[in-house]
Amino acid sequence: MQLRNIMLNIVSDLLDQTLLKTYDICKCEKCRTDIIAYVLSRIPAKYVTTDVGAISTLVEQEKVENEAEIIRKIIEAIKTIGKYPQHEFKKGSKEDKDKAFELLLDNIYQTRGIDFRRYLARVLKRRISRRMTVNKVKSYSDYLRVLTSNPKEYDELFNVLTINVSEFFRDAKIFNTIRKTLSEVIEDKIKRGKYSIKIWSAGCASGEEPYSIAIALREIIEKEGVPFNISIIATDIDDKCLKVAKTAEYKQISLRNVNKYLLQKYFMPTHGKYRVKDEIKRLVTFYHHNLIADTHFEKVDIVFCRNVFIFFNRSLQEHLIMTFYKALKKDGYLILGAVETFLGEAKLVFNEIDLKARIYQKI
Ligand SMILES: C[S@@+](CC[C@H](N)C(=O)[O-])C[C@H]1O[C@@H](n2cnc3c(N)ncnc32)[C@H](O)[C@@H]1O
Repeated sequence: MQLRNIMLNIVSDLLDQTLLKTYDICKCEKCRTDIIAYVLSRIPAKYVTTDVGAISTLVEQEKVENEAEIIRKIIEAIKTIGKYPQHEFKKGSKEDKDKAFELLLDNIYQTRGIDFRRYLARVLKRRISRRMTVNKVKSYSDYLRVLTSNPKEYDELFNVLTINVSEFFRDAKIFNTIRKTLSEVIEDKIKRGKYSIKIWSAGCASGEEPYSIAIALREIIEKEGVPFNISIIATDIDDKCLKVAKTAEYKQISLRNVNKYLLQKYFMPTHGKYRVKDEIKRLVTFYHHNLIADTHFEKVDIVFCRNVFIFFNRSLQEHLIMTFYKALKKDGYLILGAVETFLGEAKLVFNEIDLKARIYQKI
């Protein structure tokens, strides 16, 4: 017969839950073990014999009685141990740098809701290093301190991480999934005898996104062989971008996902660039529009808002998702960018249609 301290199970479980909501600390195995040891040394043990049948029931009972006190101790431990890890990473070692980089991305996610953890680390590191140079810091942990003490630096960081960069059929694989959704929407409309679609491309940069949507829709409708009215509202806060969008001339680099067939069909070569043909241009109307301050559009079938949330904090993102909810018709779709997460109560009013492609449907 053996004795076991069931407080270990409880602390371990509550620690995992707390760590999910905690950032800016080291979460390595060594620190985790140190935190558990710290807490266990400060709460009374509760030994049970391992031959007791219902250990899990006992654990649950003890948890209910002691939860508040244990969480207080966990937070205390996190503050003392997690902030000042005792492990053996040598300062400046690769492991130490990787850990600091992970913490930086965790922090960005927790603070701004943007999940860069799925970005290519080498690309991020190259871009972040530009901001580190400007701020005269040499380590990720020092840069994290800069972000914490000066939240405006987040805007500068996001400027170098995304800026107004866009391209036709951005995230080509994901765009294929989006095409399927567009097809389904059109087919459904035709079945219901409705022959028009209204789309809002919010944060459209220089027009690559709304023109891509227009081309995709034209191809779908051509196959269906019925007349169909397409209206795409494309908005951005940046007038320079909108000017380019209206000119609709693009360098080859932003057309790398456009196949030869579509290139010939919908673009005209002009002065070393490619101009979108009028038959596509007239499907899109551009407006200067500030997502934060201006009133939203109405009765929209699909809102695209890809790679825009990057600029906004979590509460604003939640607010915007609810704005898009109001802009959409019943059963309308919202399509976000590949790294953008769905937040707060908005989860209750949208169904997830495709997590990878970030396609959601209004309930
Ligand atoms: C990275 S681009 C995204 C372009 C395109 N949606 C895509 O995924 O390729 C982000 C765009 O959001 C725009 N933007 C930023 N803040 C905005 C705001 N408050 N209202 C409208 N657009 C905004 C920027 O000007 C920029 O053109």
